[in-house]
Amino acid sequence: MFDSPATLAQQESNQFLQDVWQGLSSKQKYLESKYFYDENGDVIFQKIMDCSDYYLTRCEMDILKNKTAELAFPITAPGTPFDLIELGAGDASKTYFLLKHLLKSNADFVYKPIDISGHILDVLEDNLSQQLPNLKVAPCEGDYFQALDRICQTSNRRKIVLFLGSNIGNMQLDESESFCQQMAHHLNPGDFAIVGFDLKKNPKTILKAYDDDEGVTSEFNLNLLHRINRDLDGNFDLKQFEHYQNYDPLTGACRSFLVSLTEQTVTIAGRDFYFAKDEAIYMEVSQKYSPEDIDELAERSGFKTVSHCYDHKKWYMDAIWKVI
Ligand code: AVI
Repeated sequence: MFDSPATLAQQESNQFLQDVWQGLSSKQKYLESKYFYDENGDVIFQKIMDCSDYYLTRCEMDILKNKTAELAFPITAPGTPFDLIELGAGDASKTYFLLKHLLKSNADFVYKPIDISGHILDVLEDNLSQQLPNLKVAPCEGDYFQALDRICQTSNRRKIVLFLGSNIGNMQLDESESFCQQMAHHLNPGDFAIVGFDLKKNPKTILKAYDDDEGVTSEFNLNLLHRINRDLDGNFDLKQFEHYQNYDPLTGACRSFLVSLTEQTVTIAGRDFYFAKDEAIYMEVSQKYSPEDIDELAERSGFKTVSHCYDHKKWYMDAIWKVI
């Protein structure tokens, strides 16, 4: 029996409320950054990607546009058919260049984008059917690993998994390790993963990407409080919270917070949360890695590094890993 859409929406909203209550009743208050992405959050994130200080998207685009053959070579070298699976594909605007290259080189593959947003997968399918009419696309809506399970049960072709966009950076270090281990467990020896990492670099460059002068990142963070007000009957006064960002070059963690500007009590779905003046809510980590950190992560999670693909500034890396 499948849940009706209404029940699923209800379950999601209950989960959102539980997560918000749990985060705000912890000793160090936190909110989960996966909740940034409502409709408004998607629009603000698009603005972030267009910001001159936010270099990540342009760096990865540089790799996909200009290092396409380098990325494609290890994937196509075995010469056998494969599934190209993308976790969190979005609208595939970056992957387009790799797909185009693979089609040109007559590779036998099916592109299987996975995303939790059915809407974005419809957009992706529409775009790709016009831009690359010969591409075989089989979109999968849902949770990454559930969708990956379904794909593995229905196809025995080789698998290449793409996890781009530095999405791995939004995980704590222990989470990213168990995520990569899960990825390896779903694959067979000889399969590949291509993972996008933002690299450690001048701390000021990193900090600026998340503390932009236009205040777009601040708007992105505050939008989650707005979402809580709207969807969970909250009464955050957005003017009483201020975005604060820091970057620690020792650990590579770039963290965002919202700081309470005054002593205040916020009510969410009937439950009160007290904030001291200057108390911070931890919102998100955007972890930065060195090439050595990335190789070690590969090793600890059941992969072997095949190659490092850099943008021309060497600020970003798409790492190619093989399952051992
Ligand atoms: C989606 N993710 C990789 C972005 C990042 O760089 O951590 C999210 C983001 N948060 C603030 N700016 C961008």
